[in-house]
Amino acid sequence: MRRSVLLFLVANILIVGYLVHSVWTLLSLLVVDGSEDAISRAELPAPNSPAITSQPQLIPKLIHQTYVNESIPERWKEAQQSCIDLHEDYEYRLWTDKKAREFIAQEYPWFLETYDAYEFPIQRADSIRYFVLAHFGGVYIDLDDGCQRRLDPLLAYPAWLRRTVPTGISNDAMGAIPRHPFFLRVIDSLPKYNRSWLLPYITVMASTGPLFLSVIWRHYNNAGPIGRDRVRVLFPDEYNNHPWSFFTHHLGNSWHGKDVRLIFWMGQHWIFLTVLGFVLGGIVFAVFWRCYRAVTVAGNSKFPAKLARRRFFTFWRRGAASSKDYELVDRHQV
Ligand SMILES: *[C@@H]1O[C@H](CO)[C@@H](O)[C@H](O)[C@H]1NC(C)=O
Repeated sequence: MRRSVLLFLVANILIVGYLVHSVWTLLSLLVVDGSEDAISRAELPAPNSPAITSQPQLIPKLIHQTYVNESIPERWKEAQQSCIDLHEDYEYRLWTDKKAREFIAQEYPWFLETYDAYEFPIQRADSIRYFVLAHFGGVYIDLDDGCQRRLDPLLAYPAWLRRTVPTGISNDAMGAIPRHPFFLRVIDSLPKYNRSWLLPYITVMASTGPLFLSVIWRHYNNAGPIGRDRVRVLFPDEYNNHPWSFFTHHLGNSWHGKDVRLIFWMGQHWIFLTVLGFVLGGIVFAVFWRCYRAVTVAGNSKFPAKLARRRFFTFWRRGAASSKDYELVDRHQV
């Protein structure tokens, strides 16, 4: 094979390899479903079964929720009350903005700068839930999630998260013992993931939200945690699909921006978008290949070779390439 062709292919493979490597965790989220860590319905006692009391209680009886202040909006009051009523023997903590900031300032001062600098309030609401779980343990429940049965059986696992469809895990209901290694890792990772991604929705998802949590979850599981370090996964059937599920999910999404609609649209059309991505990638590849041929194989192209060569070299020099590159391209001319 001609050296120029080989060079071209190697460069392309390296670029594609780099791109795949950088999104590998995201790609793996599409195939890893967490079923090996599932809390199966077979092991969960029925809502009023006496078997519940024979299970160990590892997670403290403590429910955390978050809101701006103490005045919960009407549409969430019923859900909030359903959790309080079912768990009279649990401690209930509502983390208002004020309490949350005081807690971070006192217990995790290293995070205060990141916490204060977050552009969106929801990023603070996301991060505080990881900190209180890492610190006190207990169960965190979103305000738009109502309780359908007591959480006791879920206290028997050192840590659990909720699976979302089609991929990843959510951060709207989760539980853990105090200082569980997974949540320690989560809070430790927050500053590193605090990046802006153009669209607010993606920024929130990837810096503190479910996407961030899913990525940390994947990394954490790569080390093959066993025993108490394992993180168990609650699947949709056990979460809210049936009368014997734990929660009822009230749609109370506070995100109504254009980018949300865009993301949902992308989620619904992901096969089309994937195909489109490959087609566009192919076209870019073909165009590069044609230009490359045009400048390296003189006279063997419909493209006016001299013009192309001149343009290519101008481009090449502007790109601050060394004279070595110049020679390299030049040498392959026949
Ligand atoms: C609580 O926050 C909401 C939403 O920001 C606001 O409308 C309301 O006035 C606040 N209530 C109090 C008592 O500060």
